[in-house]
Amino acid sequence: MGISFKEVSHLYPTSKRKVFTVALDNINLNINEKDEFVALVGKTGSGKSTLMEHMNALLLPSSGTVDIMGSIITPKKNKNPKLKDVRKKVGFVFQFPEYQLFEETVLKDIMFAGKNFGMKEEEAKTKALETARLLKIDDDLLKKSPFNLSGGQMRKVAIAGILAYNPDILLLDEPTRGLDPKTADEIMDLFYEIHKTTHKTIILISHDMDLVYKYATRVVVLNSSKIVYDGDKVNLFSSPIYEENHLSKPEVLKMIDYLNETQEYSLNYNIFNEQELLEQVVKHHE
Ligand SMILES: Nc1ncnc2c1ncn2[C@@H]1O[C@H](COP(=O)(O)OP(=O)(O)O)[C@@H](O)[C@H]1O
Ligand SMILES: [Mg+2]
Repeated sequence: MGISFKEVSHLYPTSKRKVFTVALDNINLNINEKDEFVALVGKTGSGKSTLMEHMNALLLPSSGTVDIMGSIITPKKNKNPKLKDVRKKVGFVFQFPEYQLFEETVLKDIMFAGKNFGMKEEEAKTKALETARLLKIDDDLLKKSPFNLSGGQMRKVAIAGILAYNPDILLLDEPTRGLDPKTADEIMDLFYEIHKTTHKTIILISHDMDLVYKYATRVVVLNSSKIVYDGDKVNLFSSPIYEENHLSKPEVLKMIDYLNETQEYSLNYNIFNEQELLEQVVKHHE
């Protein structure tokens, strides 16, 4: 099960007849249903969002097949399984998901997708309230119009709507983009907590290599519509591949380089955030 791409290409039409943009070029990729935290990285236009949109059949392949939790998605629209079932299993947090809010109240917005996927009113409400608590959305906000909230609060409400129907796999397209650092940390910590406690697979698109290095266990690098790296993050940032793909080095690794080069440390790259690095520095001075 999980998500599996077999020789998938995707072409977008352009303004010229018979001229296409190749956004995915012969992609082969297997992601397990459980316990993966995959980061999709690469420069703008490399195909990350297009790839992710194939993971819950928002886009159909131009050629090849995508197996989403056992449902086989092919280029032929009418041959495909019920896409609603697929989308219930794989939740998608779009870039700027707050643009999709539209209900009269925050609570109704959080309940919307659950009801759409067949939950009864009461169940949808119970799940919405649970999720709101998890995301620290105050009770008094629930009766307000989502349009009266701050940007960070709107983002949380939009994310709550996805989490409330409990999809098996979560797709996140730059979920913290444009948020203040505190809300961004809160949201990423929550996704990580969900990953750790429920073992749900999470697939994250991010330009923030600090986030990628902190949370992901596997990194897939796209360049010009192709996968050019798929594997371990330590290995990626120890090789020239990250630079060739215009990825910046995580801050924690820059600090490690500095300590090794100028302060006679001999740290390896198996340190994933500043807290862990501090512990090593303290140890060094003991
Ligand atoms: N809706 C669309 N119509 C036409 N071309 C598109 C569309 N979306 C993306 N593209 C093109 O497909 C390529 C990959 O885009 P995208 O998947 O958005 O990359 P990324 O998310 O890595 O920035 C780019 O060349 C982009 O211009
Ligand atoms: Mg994108």
